[in-house]
Amino acid sequence: MPRPTVTLKIATSMDGRIALANGVSQWITGSEARARVHQMRAEHDVVLVGVGTVLADDPLLTARTVPLPNVQPVRIVADSQARTPVTGRLVQSVGLGRVVVAASQPKGRQVEALEQAGAEVWRCGDVEGQVSPARLLDRCAVEGMQSVFLEGGGKLAASFVAAGLVDTIQWFRAPILIGGDGLPAIAALGLTKMENAPRWRSVSATRIGDDVLETYVRD
Ligand SMILES: NC(=O)c1ccc[n+]([C@@H]2O[C@H](COP(=O)([O-])OP(=O)(O)OC[C@H]3O[C@@H](n4cnc5c(N)ncnc54)[C@H](OP(=O)(O)O)[C@@H]3O)[C@@H](O)[C@H]2O)c1
Repeated sequence: MPRPTVTLKIATSMDGRIALANGVSQWITGSEARARVHQMRAEHDVVLVGVGTVLADDPLLTARTVPLPNVQPVRIVADSQARTPVTGRLVQSVGLGRVVVAASQPKGRQVEALEQAGAEVWRCGDVEGQVSPARLLDRCAVEGMQSVFLEGGGKLAASFVAAGLVDTIQWFRAPILIGGDGLPAIAALGLTKMENAPRWRSVSATRIGDDVLETYVRD
């Protein structure tokens, strides 16, 4: 069964930061770019984020297009210990579409609470106790999901990039500067040789409102 394709979406300042040092990230890009992101969500089977993003932003992650899509993408959180709050907007909006917590070593009580609230809990752990990107994608494939829209944050994006599992990057760049104390779009990759830096091919750059959308595919 083929793994789903993965599109990584990043919304940054000109200097590649996804949030201020205090975690505030709303809103870096303008309303036109954000509308395009909703369209992109609607075009994918899955919207995926790390639990850091859920805890920082309490996001809904639905595709809010006009008109609304017939089926909402499945919303998945990579969350080793199943810390996703049951009272948050994601789980509370399960009536709008499936919500999955992809975990590694979840606590029984939290699994029970999430499942009771209508969310699903998958086990996709790696040897280090985090969520394995490959195992998560394999499970998506089993569920018939063919495309994943990965929306960050920087730590989860780095794991997928390091595992060579990102096919396309949709990079929205706003004309602001956040500075080196902001959060990087891609967390540490631990590279020591330039030739090992993952290389991408730029296929387009389009102005959207005040922002620029750059599209890259794996070289
Ligand atoms: N501008 C944008 O486009 C954008 C988009 C998204 C987020 N953000 C901002 O980014 C910040 C959050 O980013 P973040 O990097 O702190 O968090 P993140 O990438 O959203 O989540 C990281 C957490 O996910 C869990 N995780 C499970 N499996 C993982 C794996 N294989 N690799 C990496 N993480 C894994 C880990 O927690 P456990 O160990 O508990 O599982 C980890 O700490 C927030 O400030 C948010 O506002 C900005």
